Amino acid sequence: MYLLAIETSCDETAAAVLENGEIPRSNVVATQYEIHGRYGGVVPELASRRHLEMIIPIINGALKEAGITLDEVNAIAVTRGPGLVGSLLVGISAAKALAYVKQLPLVAVNHLEGHIHAIFLERKDIKFPFITLVASGGHTHLYKVLDFHRYQALGRTRDDAAGEAFDKVAKILNLGYPGGPVIDKLSQEGNEAAITFPKSIFSDGSLDFSFSGLKTAVLNYVLAHKNGYKVADIAAGFQRAAVGMLVDTTLKSAAKENCLQIVLAGGVACNSALRKTMKQAAQEKGMEVFYPSPALCTDNALMIAKAGYHRFLQGERADMELNAKADLRLGE
Ligand code: KG4
Ligand code: ZN
Repeated sequence: MYLLAIETSCDETAAAVLENGEIPRSNVVATQYEIHGRYGGVVPELASRRHLEMIIPIINGALKEAGITLDEVNAIAVTRGPGLVGSLLVGISAAKALAYVKQLPLVAVNHLEGHIHAIFLERKDIKFPFITLVASGGHTHLYKVLDFHRYQALGRTRDDAAGEAFDKVAKILNLGYPGGPVIDKLSQEGNEAAITFPKSIFSDGSLDFSFSGLKTAVLNYVLAHKNGYKVADIAAGFQRAAVGMLVDTTLKSAAKENCLQIVLAGGVACNSALRKTMKQAAQEKGMEVFYPSPALCTDNALMIAKAGYHRFLQGERADMELNAKADLRLGE
């Protein structure tokens, strides 16, 4: 059984083929970094135009890499939301056209569920319920995952997403876009204790996050010190504070919910300091931490295939009325 998945929620045009819900046959991703780089963030109109140019070559690329033709595809999964509406519509229109012409079942997938299900492509030892931190360019959420499709929201960011903070700080420091990978790398050359940036903690016991104060603190530091600082020290100091907030609140939620397994998901889950710090801190509390390979943390269609396959098995089908939902919530 071959499932073709399509993902265009933000600035990656992606397609993948999953065999029998288990075996990745292809995973093709076209990023748009060079288009959005000069703006320091994604420009929605440019993103959807680029998706239009890339969608057919990327789908063809995924089929070719899988060694199959469109006639051998048995079902199609596509990201319905959340994301940029103009970007989502390109993938949805392509998926609907293919499903209609080839008379194939179509499954709609929540992008955040895709990020969470990415771990199931690589691990079979994760037991429900577990805690997941989904941290990407557009989202920072903590959920208790009750089973494949049931989620209990525990906390979320009240302002910027974690990845957005990395991107904005990189913009302040003129490091390019996306900021996460550059700051991750540069931090290794910096002294994380040289500058202490503030961590936002809520006194009401909530499991929410806030990153805008940290971003502003970095901006104020840069403005106050002009050129009298080492960029790597700022990167390392910022990363320490951001990672600290993510680790503290995630572990707090795991303890509160009595969960011993934590799954990291989304682009920020690539961060080497986050992976290491979360693992160490969790181990001290007798908890385990899991995260997918980097290519499955950032946006890709294989994770959409994995999540879509499960919904396909349950008999879920989308029809030709399927529309993008920019603010789609998990479990909706
Ligand atoms: O999941 P993703 O590819 O797209 C969204 O759904 O948003 O996440 C992209 C985000 C960007 O903000 C990027 O800067 C961040 O993930 N990111 C990282 C790292 N790699 C990517 N953040 C911190 N450290 C990294 N190594
Ligand atoms: Zn994503």
